[in-house]
Amino acid sequence: MEQELSQIKHEALTAIKAAENLTVLNEQRVKYLGKKGSLTAILRGMGKLAPEDRPRVGQLVNNVRIELESLLEERVKTLKKEEMVHRLANEKIDVTLPGRKQHLGHLHPLTLTLNKIKNIFKSMGYSIAEGPQIETDYFNFEALNLPKDHPARDMQDSFYITNDILMRTQTSPVQARTMQAHDPNSPIRIIAPGRVYRRDDYDATHSPMFTQVEGLCIDKNIRLSDLKGTLTSAMQQLFSDDLQLRFRPSFFPFTEPSAEVDMTCVMCHGKGCRVCKGTGWLEILGAGMVHPHVLQMSGYDPKKVSGFAFGMGVERIAMLSYGIEDLRLFFDNDLRFLKQF
Ligand code: PHE
Repeated sequence: MEQELSQIKHEALTAIKAAENLTVLNEQRVKYLGKKGSLTAILRGMGKLAPEDRPRVGQLVNNVRIELESLLEERVKTLKKEEMVHRLANEKIDVTLPGRKQHLGHLHPLTLTLNKIKNIFKSMGYSIAEGPQIETDYFNFEALNLPKDHPARDMQDSFYITNDILMRTQTSPVQARTMQAHDPNSPIRIIAPGRVYRRDDYDATHSPMFTQVEGLCIDKNIRLSDLKGTLTSAMQQLFSDDLQLRFRPSFFPFTEPSAEVDMTCVMCHGKGCRVCKGTGWLEILGAGMVHPHVLQMSGYDPKKVSGFAFGMGVERIAMLSYGIEDLRLFFDNDLRFLKQF
């Protein structure tokens, strides 16, 4: 046994010295000192020795173990140092090289336009409300006075997901959502910006997805003149102080009376040009006084309160503010276009 021990010791010392990296070194440690290692095997075999020999041999094995362990420790240190020197040599960086420029992005023209609209209405005491883009038939249509068989549903060709769930065709459902989440005795002033979806072509003036801003104001004694004043001020702030609005009678199921609102053409200031097709006017939004049914359906008493609502297309406003002629530019992500803002 003693001979075996000295052979193991010799073998182990040579192997540890020869290990060229930490992985190999660890393999050697396991081979000799691990649970199934050869030195450990000798310790296990001690039971076979005569009892009087055990302490002496035990001492010998222990000495070998200590010697191997201290050599291992030393080798670990040396190898780690070598590894570090190697890495320092390989991973050095040249701090004199020029830096790489970080390209900062900026806001999209639609976001810029939306921010302007939000700020104008915030300054008039409105807060921002939001609703889901995947909407129920109830909020998108029914709560807005458009029952299932109502012909006015044809105005908005829709993407249905099930019979009762669809991509919202307008931001108007946020009107009903807001009213129903609100105490009917306190006033409402919100705008609701967001994406809406309609089955449509994708060309210079149409897109199956676009952005609207809804507005809703409910309080005691809200009148059509309040709607006109609010919209006139908002549009003047967006475009120019001398801008005028024109209200043409129209129909929306959720407002009565309803109006299609035009503003003086921002390109020719009303003289008539290509953009306004010679009329001097541009159709810019839909609006009206909130229909009594709509108030009632959401728990408000039309005898006590009244309100107005409006909805505008953000792409159209952005196109007119920046003189953009093709709607698709907003969505195509062409940097040559986007970098201009
Ligand atoms: N939701 C209408 C549309 O998308 C616009 C609108 C909003 C009209 C609010 C009146 C009041 O066409």
